Amino acid sequence: MSAVPAPKRLLSDAAYARIDREVAKYPADQKQSAVMAALAIAQDETEWVSPPVIEDVAAYLGMPPIAVYEVASFYNMYDTQPVGKFKLAVCTCLPCALRDGTKAGEYLKSKLGIDYGETTPDGLFTLKESECLGSCGDAPVLLVNNKRMCSFMSNERLDALLAELKASK
Ligand code: FES
Repeated sequence: MSAVPAPKRLLSDAAYARIDREVAKYPADQKQSAVMAALAIAQDETEWVSPPVIEDVAAYLGMPPIAVYEVASFYNMYDTQPVGKFKLAVCTCLPCALRDGTKAGEYLKSKLGIDYGETTPDGLFTLKESECLGSCGDAPVLLVNNKRMCSFMSNERLDALLAELKASK
């Protein structure tokens, strides 16, 4: 009788080791508590959390894939569709909207020629609306690739950011 093959793993050993460290923060029977961290680690490596990646994370944490998908689709730092090299998430929640957050988004739309949720044809930029980033006093604010916070984003600073990112591609 042949052995059942092990499920195909999609992440690197280093990524699973990082997930293991997150899992270790919780009681042994609550591995699923690490799902947000695990999704972030997976996305860092795969750029977006595709259905196979979601299934992989689910299998690793012993969760139903739909439960992992619910988390991935609820929080906008997770991308369940392919994104450009640089994801720009502009906060348009009310406190920021009252302090030019909406204008910053509109300016980026016109500069990039795309709407929220779209990616430029060259694959460089994806524009998204963000929920509160916890820096309301620094509006307009945006987050680049879920990691780099940019504050006080006047049109001039937005121009400089786009130029910098294009130059770094
Ligand atoms: Fe935009 Fe809080 S409302 S950072």
